[in-house]
Amino acid sequence: MEDNILTTSPYFGALCERRLSRRSLLLNASVAAAVAGALPTLGSTANVSSRHTSYKAVGPTREDAVLLSPGLRHDVLIGWGDSLFADARSLSAREIRSLAWLDDKAAERQQRLFGTNNDALAFFAAPGKRGVGALCVNHEYVMPELSLATLPSSASERAKNRESWIKARPQVVPWMQAAHGVSVVDLKRSARGWSVVRGGPSTRRITANTPMQIMGPARGDVLMRTNADPTGTLALGTFANCAGGKTPWGTYLTAEENVQDYFGGARSWAAESDDDMTKLAHRRWPLRERSAYGWEVVDPRFDVRREPREPLRHGWIVEIDPQNPDAPPKKRTSLGRFCHEGANTILTKDGRVAAYMGDDTKFEYVYKFVTRGRFDAKSRAANRDLLDDGTLHVARFDASGRGEWLALVHDENGPLNSRNGFRSQADVVIKCRAAADILGATPMDRPEDVEPSPVTGRVYMSLTKNDDRVVKRAEFTGREIDMGPDHANPRPKNDFGHIVELIEDNDDASSTRFSWNLFLLAGDPRNSNARFLTKVEDIGPDKLAREDVYYAGYTDREAVSPIACPDNLGFDPTGRLWIVTDADEELIGNNGCFVVPTTGEERGQLRQVLSAPVGAEVCGCEFTPDGTTLFLSIQHPGEGGTVDAPVSHWPDGGGLPARSAVIAVSREDGSPL
Ligand code: FEO
Ligand code: CA
Ligand code: CA
Repeated sequence: MEDNILTTSPYFGALCERRLSRRSLLLNASVAAAVAGALPTLGSTANVSSRHTSYKAVGPTREDAVLLSPGLRHDVLIGWGDSLFADARSLSAREIRSLAWLDDKAAERQQRLFGTNNDALAFFAAPGKRGVGALCVNHEYVMPELSLATLPSSASERAKNRESWIKARPQVVPWMQAAHGVSVVDLKRSARGWSVVRGGPSTRRITANTPMQIMGPARGDVLMRTNADPTGTLALGTFANCAGGKTPWGTYLTAEENVQDYFGGARSWAAESDDDMTKLAHRRWPLRERSAYGWEVVDPRFDVRREPREPLRHGWIVEIDPQNPDAPPKKRTSLGRFCHEGANTILTKDGRVAAYMGDDTKFEYVYKFVTRGRFDAKSRAANRDLLDDGTLHVARFDASGRGEWLALVHDENGPLNSRNGFRSQADVVIKCRAAADILGATPMDRPEDVEPSPVTGRVYMSLTKNDDRVVKRAEFTGREIDMGPDHANPRPKNDFGHIVELIEDNDDASSTRFSWNLFLLAGDPRNSNARFLTKVEDIGPDKLAREDVYYAGYTDREAVSPIACPDNLGFDPTGRLWIVTDADEELIGNNGCFVVPTTGEERGQLRQVLSAPVGAEVCGCEFTPDGTTLFLSIQHPGEGGTVDAPVSHWPDGGGLPARSAVIAVSREDGSPL
């Protein structure tokens, strides 16, 4: 195994070393300052600073193009339908203008092609070989109107006719299942930039039907057993894969997010069934009578009346080894079951692995898992199942600016006991949200990426938006809560989203206590109704209006870019935070990519460096180890249109329908971004 082309990421190792040395120098003094609300002035080096200020902001725009700050360029690497293997024929934008491609072989063909709606990206550099590596890419979902010609143009008409449409073309369901999951793509860099190596050593497609092992505390549990798998150990497929992450030993973590959209028949099942144990397991992650995609019309696995426990086998973090295309992916149930956005790892001071995770639903929680065992940098095999054993925590944010990681551990003498519905740790991880409720976790404004800085160790979490943040107490997602603003989610009707900065006690990712502060209140500083806040004292649950903005205390209103709905986060090797957005374009314009220093005098000086095509959200945010290339996902360009009446023609142009695709962004002179 050690002689494969990819071993433990040298990028990760280098960053860990740098983090540990720089952190001890820079951070400890800053913790007290940050807690007190002062602005830290750390770690800014002259060259990073000049690189940052050299970015001239681009946008907001409404252009149907990838637009970049001057001095930057991009290449389109691969998009939906492009062949991954030398023997597979690509499905082109021209071909999808009719439905002729959707024949009985469409699913088989799709298994050899890049999937739809690419989302998270993780690059694994091949050690010892410059400019070679593997890119793991999520295919979150299918938007039928952007893939299937002849569908009705209105969403309500599409929904009304869905069942008969699928029954007339049942092959569409296995095709959709094959378009989901993950692609592992081999890449190489030449003088012309990065390109795909079709059929390279890592190349692989994982779909909604790929067999994968259920690992950790829920493995074999009664709630994981189905008619098709009475052992509860072998699940089929991964889908709704949103963001992701990487382990220090060079594996990919893919996050199963909105799995509730894939199952139908739940209401009629609940009306007829007396299986209270399974009903209780679904309480905090409710299912619907009609799924979003109609797979249950032809596939009984997705019909809750047939397989009421199948949904419980999804909604996990899945580990994939890009070095071993034959190894089955593993669902790591120790990391809990919820709408997983991603899982971003960092080493604790004693060499264990912490993974930070968000549950991307309104009023859901932020989690951290810490392994019991230590990362072994010398033996990749020793880390193989490290993620199966450890402690899952959920965050409580206190008004004081302090907070606590609450351990989600089954204990007959603690709150998570059988009298409260938790017979075992399997119950705790399967009914993770319900367990977190009991511990008093803080309901957040849709936690997306939760990302530790590899340079400072501070953790940044995107709270993308929550327009239901209004003062009232009400039933929401299976329990009653206070929905009004609080200190960590201070803005009423939070349409623009915000970012929270978390500083672990002792600067150690294994700590159970932390300090936190607001890093960004997103919005549009050009709006004359928006107050441009610069002092933490002005931020609080009773002090803010929907339009108010705050850029980590940065004081020059003219020098920052408008931003709405931060989603995925990334760090370049120097520690600047990169943010990509997923907002309604009516708010400020097309989505984009932004960069902001988190330390030094430029802390908070946020600049937009990329504007995405019409209808697209931007995902990914993954750097090469040398910091010269930024990989980004352009997901669902053309949303709002259809194949027959496209509102975007990116990336193919020429009046063709749009396709989701991955781009590589670099400086024109090839220097680090
Ligand atoms: Fe799939 Fe949380 O965005
Ligand atoms: Ca996302
Ligand atoms: Ca999102």
